[in-house]
This record gives sequence, structure tokens and C-alpha cells, in this order.
Amino acid sequence: MMGQDMVMATTASQITAIEKQPSTYSFEPFLDIMYADFAQVHPQRKPFLWQRPSEGSKELFPNPKKLPPSILGVGMLHQQLQRPDLLHGYMSKSLSATNKALEWESIHPNSILASSEELKVVSLDNIVCETLFDAQTTSFFGPYLLKLEPNLLFTLKDWDLNSWRVSYKLPSFLAGQATGPRGQMIDVLTQYFSAPAHLRSGCVPFINEVYAEYKQAGLSDRDIGGIIFTILWGLNLNVIIITFWMVAHIMSNPRIMEEIRQEIAPMMEFLQNREDNGDTFAEVTKTHLLNGSPILNSIFNETLRHTSMGNSFRKTSQDTLLEGRDIPANTIIIIPQRPQLMDPAAFGKDHDTFDFYRFVNDKSLLRKGEFRPFGGGTTMCGGRIAGRHQILAFTAIIFWRYDLEMISPDQEILGVQGKAFPRLDETLLSIGASKARKGDDMILKMRPRNL
Ligand code: HEM
Repeated sequence: MMGQDMVMATTASQITAIEKQPSTYSFEPFLDIMYADFAQVHPQRKPFLWQRPSEGSKELFPNPKKLPPSILGVGMLHQQLQRPDLLHGYMSKSLSATNKALEWESIHPNSILASSEELKVVSLDNIVCETLFDAQTTSFFGPYLLKLEPNLLFTLKDWDLNSWRVSYKLPSFLAGQATGPRGQMIDVLTQYFSAPAHLRSGCVPFINEVYAEYKQAGLSDRDIGGIIFTILWGLNLNVIIITFWMVAHIMSNPRIMEEIRQEIAPMMEFLQNREDNGDTFAEVTKTHLLNGSPILNSIFNETLRHTSMGNSFRKTSQDTLLEGRDIPANTIIIIPQRPQLMDPAAFGKDHDTFDFYRFVNDKSLLRKGEFRPFGGGTTMCGGRIAGRHQILAFTAIIFWRYDLEMISPDQEILGVQGKAFPRLDETLLSIGASKARKGDDMILKMRPRNL
């Protein structure tokens, strides 16, 4: 394609072979493209990201392997998202903010299309976006970032809808709808990093630590703002999309809604009698949602299977053999998720239907090579536990607290017309899950349950 050799790896055995040889099938060229084309690191300073620290240089973050800042930065993010104490510090704030934002009186005004004393009509897309973006962004960056730009969510949405223009390398006059909002977000993050450190109080430790590393490597505040913009995007993107789809699918099946309520009742009743100090909420929901709740987790996994359309990329650093086929050096390898997640040999003849119980009925599916919604090998998603916890907690809270009904296109409640079940957009490039088609949404009638 365009003078470049490309190979598509579509079977689980090919993908496993690729992931076992990270130095032959390298991800670094794509990380470099990400720093240049997405993060907009200045071309004169981008090489600093690949310079290994010299012997005897001052070590800020433990770096025994002397990794260059490009790789060290990703490792630091993985640590923030996976080391139990660091993850807990973030999750306890983010989940507590989600819990508060889903109280009847606190539902975000942008989500409410109409309301009366006893009911609210809400857009599912908006309630998911507003609640999760605020909770996650404030807990990761501290309150200062959204104080600098309260409309950051709208800018991120604009970028996200149009980011394919940058991925497809459209000329600048066609890419403005993506590069404009991206520029605004990088401006805000540059201001955020140029401010005195005490203004960033409440952020996760990763923020100031990675800033110090990149600064020492010679990057400017704007370069760093650009890299952190890609993390702000990754923090929110998949979590918001998967939550939307998971709630939408549950709405289509009243029986499953009741089963979920029964499954989470002991956890919710326990939490109802406690003061929410964040720590308790995070610990209790971790035990019940991450390590219990088989039906909820089955629906989560089926949602991932149904909506993941991303691709992983590698480039061969030398001539090699993949299952007996010659692959020359500098060949781009594409690993699309969709063909495996929809493989009838792995998931059965009904692979294209949404089966709420699929992963409860067959627990071995989780271990299948075809089920890789978080990618694999060196680029496996570092945020998979944080993301799952956040999504399951949102879903549990909303179905526990509220009676929800989908308003169909032929119904009108408080002057708001309903919509049909949203359709998956299978046309745009995505990193992970695919959104609903433009204009699609689910309109919900919401009333507090008698608890
Ligand atoms: C359920 C929600 C999520 C899904 C479905 C998801 C999906 C993915 C996928 C498919 C990849 C692999 C890309 C590849 O192999 O090329 C990935 C990588 C990654 N994701 Fe997630 N993600 C989720 C949540 C998060 C969250 C909350 C964060 C937090 C910032 C995050 C950060 C990352 C990072 C750091 C990587 C690795 C990039 C690298 O090592 O180069 N993800 N994610």
C-alpha cells in the first residue's frame, strides 16, 4: 500500500508468534509516529526522546535498564495504572466522584433533556461522557486542569470525531477539524505544566514525575503537553465508549437488568450504610465487581468483543519467517481485532449476536488467543484494570439507583422524542472500541428506585 509492504496477521497463532519476538516485530516506529503526528513534539527535540541516559547522569525515576524517555514514560504510566497503591489512590477518587455525580440532584445538567419532579429524560451519551470525563480527568490531573478549561470535554469530543483526518494524513486544509481542537487541548496542557507545581495538587504522582523526566531530557512544556494530551485521550476514550455500549445493551433486556440488580444487591446494600470516603467504595467495589459479579463481567466482555475494532501495528526490524512465510525487514504488520473477536471457530455460529451469558456459560473463552480486546505483548493495555473497574462501577450504580426505560422513536416524554437503538460505526479507524454512528444515542427515562 502506497509503496509500503504490509502484512495482515489474522490468526491467533500468528499473533502469538509476533508478540513473542518484540525486537523483530517492533512497536517503536509507531511510538515515534505518535510523538510526531499526534503529540506534535517538535522535530528538533523528538530525538531527545530516544536518547538513553548516559552513564552517571542523574536518575529521577528508577531506570536500571537505562531506557530512553520514550519507553520509560510509557512504563511510568503503566506503573501508575497497575501498582496497587498508585492505582488505589486514583480509583478511590475517580469512583467516589462517579458515585456522587450519579446522585439524583447531581446528574450533570448537560445530560438532562427535560425533567419534572419525579423523572428526568437524559441522553445516555451525555450522562456517560459528562460523568466519566469529569471524574477521571479531575482525579488524574487534579482540579486545576478543568479550572483552566471547563469545556475540555467538548474539545476532546471534537478531536475524537475527527482524529481519523490525522491518522489518514489528510493535507492541512482538510485536517483542521482535528488539528484545531488538538491545538487547543495542547495549549491548555502547556499552561497546566507551565504553572507552579502546587497548582497541580490532587494529580496522580505520575504527572509530576513524568514531567520532570521529560524536562530533564530537554523537551519543552508544549512538547510535554502534547504527549500528555495523548494520555488524556487514552484515559477517557475507551472507558466512555464501552460504558455507553454496556448500558445500552443491558437496556435492551429487562430480565438481565433484574439479574444484575440481584447480583450487586449485597455490595450496594453494604455500601448504602457507609459513609463514602472513596477508600471504602474502591475496596468494596474491587472485591465485588472485579473479583465477583459473573453476569456483569460476562456482559462487559461481550461488549468488548462486540465493539472492539482497533488495530495493532508492528514493523519488522530484520528479515524473518512467520509460520513459514518470508517477511522482509521494514514490513508493516497490522493486527486487526475484529476478525478474531468475530471468529466463528472460537466463538461459535452465533458469534455475531450479543449473548449476555456467553462468558458465564463458557469460561474458557477468556483464555482464547482470539479474545484480545486489550491487545497483547509489549503494548498490552496498561489501563485495563482501571478501565474495567470504572465501567463496572458506573453500570452498577446507575442500574441500582434508577428505574430506566428507553424512549423509542415513536414516543415522546416531556416533549423529548426517543431514538432507535444506536448503531455501531464500523467505518472509522479506532484504537479499541468503536463509537455509535454520528447522531445515534439512547434517550432514557430515569426515576429513582424505591430502595
Ligand atoms: C476498557 C477500556 C479500555 C480498552 C478497551 C482499551 C484498549 C486498549 C488496546 C486495544 C490497547 C492495545 C493497543 C495495541 O496493542 O497496539 C491499549 C493500550 C493501552 N492502553 Fe488501553 N484500553 C482501555 C482503557 C485504558 C485506560 C483507562 C488507560 C489509561 C490511560 C489506557 C491506557 C493504555 C496504555 C498506556 C496502552 C499501551 C500503549 C503502549 O504500551 O504503547 N487504556 N488499550
